[in-house]
Amino acid sequence: MKTYRLARRLAQLEPSATAAMNARVQQLRAEGVKVISFSVGEPDFNTPEPIKAAGIDALNKNLTHYTPAGGIVELRKAIAARVNADQGLTYTANQICVTTGAKEGLYLAFQALCDEGDEAIIPAPYWVSYIEQAKLAGATPITPMTTDATGFRLTPEQLREALTPRTKIVVLNSPSNPTGAVYSAAELRALADVLQDSEAIIITDEIYDAISYVEYARWLQVAPEFADRTLIVNGASKAYAMTGWRVGYVAGPLPIVTAIKDILSHTSTHTASISQYAALVAYTPNAELDQTVRDMAAAFLKRRDLILGLLAEIPGITCAVPDGAFYVFPNITGLLNRPLKNGTVCTTSDELNNYLLDQAHIACVGGESFGAPGYIRFSYATSEADIIEGVRRFRESVS
Ligand SMILES: Cc1ncc(COP(=O)(O)O)c(C=O)c1O
Repeated sequence: MKTYRLARRLAQLEPSATAAMNARVQQLRAEGVKVISFSVGEPDFNTPEPIKAAGIDALNKNLTHYTPAGGIVELRKAIAARVNADQGLTYTANQICVTTGAKEGLYLAFQALCDEGDEAIIPAPYWVSYIEQAKLAGATPITPMTTDATGFRLTPEQLREALTPRTKIVVLNSPSNPTGAVYSAAELRALADVLQDSEAIIITDEIYDAISYVEYARWLQVAPEFADRTLIVNGASKAYAMTGWRVGYVAGPLPIVTAIKDILSHTSTHTASISQYAALVAYTPNAELDQTVRDMAAAFLKRRDLILGLLAEIPGITCAVPDGAFYVFPNITGLLNRPLKNGTVCTTSDELNNYLLDQAHIACVGGESFGAPGYIRFSYATSEADIIEGVRRFRESVS
């Protein structure tokens, strides 16, 4: 096959491990294998009816033309009102940029802020895309390692150690993918105290905010003095089961949000008009819809307790209790370097992950993808029946 000289900045780009796992699952399913997938990062619920109806209505009204870069003003106003109510802030619609998923918002934030030589502090275990997006923007990811022993939360000491004069960005993600860790107000305050004398810009990724099983503390509520150097990233994907609609947003200081819109005006311009009108319903106050969101979170909590209980019965693994999102991240080092059911010996979590797919037909994601060897991520955004059967297969294949 012909080889191509791709751009140098792609040399370090790692393809998404979750996407690779999904492709393998699809292939096995096409061969007739009944695979139970714990690898997807999306709610298994349908988008709530009023949101779908608004999308259909937008189509019927022919609202299918270009919109302003960064979103229609009604949606930006609604998001500003939501952010202000949630965070006690006074953002205007101009300080909101609607993006094609939170993922694009994060990508644009790195593009708008980073130069070669800048550093981005991204606590590990991390959501894979932060690292690749930082690298694509020329920044160097600095990844202080948190562990299950401390609930996967960055300590002030770790942050102090990671900070340098080159630190441009600090990423906070609470609730976290992949660990489900949620920072308390006191923990966020302690991090704020460390950042006081730095010039770092904080990106707070709050995409799982609706799925917190403990009192949820927001970065800017706790550290409002950071408003002029914080970007809030969020979106409709997880809270409203809208992953395919691709609606996210960035909220922050006007000059940074304007820079993000400027890049957007030369790239995707805006997320689909239909999606924006659907999201307008999600972000317009509506008690019934709030209840639907709470019901989904309650269902996730029930499944979390179910999967934690089942995993606890498996010798060789330990699992920190996640306080949010829909992932558990068990430590599986006790299963490595010893013969499993058919004599196979796995030396890494990636190997164990492949073994589980081949032997037990369950799909998880190895911790290596999140900068955390020795762990495996299970998404429990799946049915209770699949959780019970999937963990049974897991137990059987490692006993
Ligand atoms: C931590 C985190 N941030 C951002 C995203 C991006 O979500 P989306 O682009 O669907 O809004 C995800 C998706 O899995 C995520 O887990």
